[in-house]
Amino acid sequence: MIFPLVQKLGLGLLHQMDAETAHSVTIKALKAGLGGSAAKPADPRLETALWDLRFPNPLGMAAGFDKNGEVPDALLHLGFGYTEVGSVTPRAQAGNPRPRVFRLKADEGVINRYGFNNAGHQALRSRLEGRPSQRGVVGVNVGANKDASDRVADYVAGIHAFADLASYFTVNVSSPNTPGLRNLQARTALAELLTAVISARDERTQVIGRHVPVLLKIAPDVLEEELAEIVEEVLAKGLEGLIVSNTTLSRAGLKSTNHTEEAGGLSGRPVFRRSTIMLAKARKLAGPQLPIIGVGGIDSAESAWTKITAGADLLQVYSALTYKGTGLIGEILTGLSAKLDQHGLANLREARDRNLDAWANLDPSD
Ligand SMILES: Cc1cc2nc3c(=O)[nH]c(=O)nc-3n(C[C@H](O)[C@H](O)[C@H](O)COP(=O)(O)O)c2cc1C
Repeated sequence: MIFPLVQKLGLGLLHQMDAETAHSVTIKALKAGLGGSAAKPADPRLETALWDLRFPNPLGMAAGFDKNGEVPDALLHLGFGYTEVGSVTPRAQAGNPRPRVFRLKADEGVINRYGFNNAGHQALRSRLEGRPSQRGVVGVNVGANKDASDRVADYVAGIHAFADLASYFTVNVSSPNTPGLRNLQARTALAELLTAVISARDERTQVIGRHVPVLLKIAPDVLEEELAEIVEEVLAKGLEGLIVSNTTLSRAGLKSTNHTEEAGGLSGRPVFRRSTIMLAKARKLAGPQLPIIGVGGIDSAESAWTKITAGADLLQVYSALTYKGTGLIGEILTGLSAKLDQHGLANLREARDRNLDAWANLDPSD
């Protein structure tokens, strides 16, 4: 689905293939070392230190691209400040039948209903263990098998399986493609899940001597009352952060005539507004201390800057790479540096929240 090899293969060529095949080809090419490397040296003003981690820049590869941890180092090499592997489930599963991912070209959007196709914990562990070095920030996004009899137990198993290898954890309760998964965002279920996850993490802290941060990734479709409860639970249970947001079920405002009625989660430009409003609302509710990763529809330096000024500490991107190729990474980072110059700011933390109120006061359903 993503096209980091724009120069080598050409977006045009990849766009001749169906979206899933294009994604597989891209992963293979990255594995073969054809990804290339960041064009420019990093701007130290873009560095972000959070928890015990140092992010050389705030832009990460979002979950779902490298589900099986095949190419974390190739992605870091391309210039990403960090990457997130997964979602991974305890047992390998095939996901939904193909086709299950669709390009909405006129909107620069994507609809996917992969359904957590992945090779399972053991395969991801082997890959992460086999990395040439453990350098760079690599988060692990954990999920639950579709047929799990106890979904909480699947997340807990994820914490146990990866605590010694994950820079941070993402608890993904917001994929629309595993029936019922999003119900884990409801207060009582969420409280039970987070208690179990945090207690597993704390248990591992004793053994490995490192406190691995745990973040919750939420849907952009939760109601404001639900968001308030989610943030309260995140703070009450002592999680280290939030990721806002996953894909949306909304189909509002699309220009495309093809594929708009496909089941699945919509991402890319069409989710930007909604995910940014939810980010700002989450920031308001959480206060200034809780780290939040802003994701959804970033496709330029301007939209990346907007996420930061609406409350994000870090950013992630996926769908826009499908349309713009890897040049987008450098374009965003150079553009963020230019924004700091333009506003006379020393770092991104100074930019955060500058436009918070304007975004937090919008209604996502307008
Ligand atoms: C093809 C595809 C697969 C995805 N798979 C996952 C996943 O396994 N786990 C997850 O937490 N998010 C997944 N996502 C959601 C992205 O991580 C991200 O939250 C969302 O796409 C919004 O960002 P974007 O607009 O930059 O794509 C997936 C997105 C796409 C497009």
